[in-house]
Amino acid sequence: MALATSLQRSTLSLAALIKSVTPPIVWRQIHRRVIVDGIPDAERYQPFYSPWLAPDFQALHREISPYTLVSIDRCWTLSQMLAQALSVEGDVMEAGVFQGGTARLLKLGVQKAAGRKLLLFDSFEGMESVSRTADRHERGDFADTSLAGVQKVVGAEPFIDYRKGWVPTTFAGLEERTFCFAHIDLDLYQSILDCLEFLYPRMPRGAVIVFDDYGFPSCPGARRAVDQFFTGRPERPLALMTGQALVFKL
Ligand SMILES: C[S@@+](CC[C@H](N)C(=O)[O-])C[C@H]1O[C@@H](n2cnc3c(N)ncnc32)[C@H](O)[C@@H]1O
Repeated sequence: MALATSLQRSTLSLAALIKSVTPPIVWRQIHRRVIVDGIPDAERYQPFYSPWLAPDFQALHREISPYTLVSIDRCWTLSQMLAQALSVEGDVMEAGVFQGGTARLLKLGVQKAAGRKLLLFDSFEGMESVSRTADRHERGDFADTSLAGVQKVVGAEPFIDYRKGWVPTTFAGLEERTFCFAHIDLDLYQSILDCLEFLYPRMPRGAVIVFDDYGFPSCPGARRAVDQFFTGRPERPLALMTGQALVFKL
């Protein structure tokens, strides 16, 4: 005890000595970095705060990962943006469902908000048409799915509306709807453009769009479609380090 007290005293007096001979600006840095938290400079900014690695979110991603191409950090963006958008009126859509992994994630969020519908748009039999000049995908890509298989993964509750077929044909009859949130994961130039033409006028202020494939070299048509659509409109698509882009409706 006596030894500990005397060590503490000598550390304090050493600190006081260093302080007395150090310019104040340098002392403030030494105090903060060495004396207060003891974190070495090299570790101060890495790893950064990564809430998607929390055990409960990792468990959720493990549950959907057999059915999705979307990484855990992108799924975190989706779940957070959906939670925010549900404070705005309207239904939720996903365009580009494939085997249903991200649709299942969205369903878990939507079912907590009474009265909202989840509309899921996909051919559920792969890519029907691609642009040879704008896209890198081939006709028939993503054929390894089916509506019945996705229904098993996502569910068949009455608030889920499966819209099987090719966008924009499957928007027919939905003209009076509004949407607070959209996950657009269609990969293709014309599909994304057609989706935005329908969706944008039906989103109230504060609604959110998450584009999954905006930054991926495999989908050059995605970024082209988004940038083209928002040219001359007030919203600025925000590219994320995950490869996604966000748009907040103004
Ligand atoms: C990248 S996948 C979706 C991935 C999915 N969100 C996941 O969790 O892995 C893209 C899907 O969009 C579909 N798709 C692309 N354009 C479409 C269109 N115009 N109409 C319907 N489905 C389309 C493809 O068939 C494919 O199933």
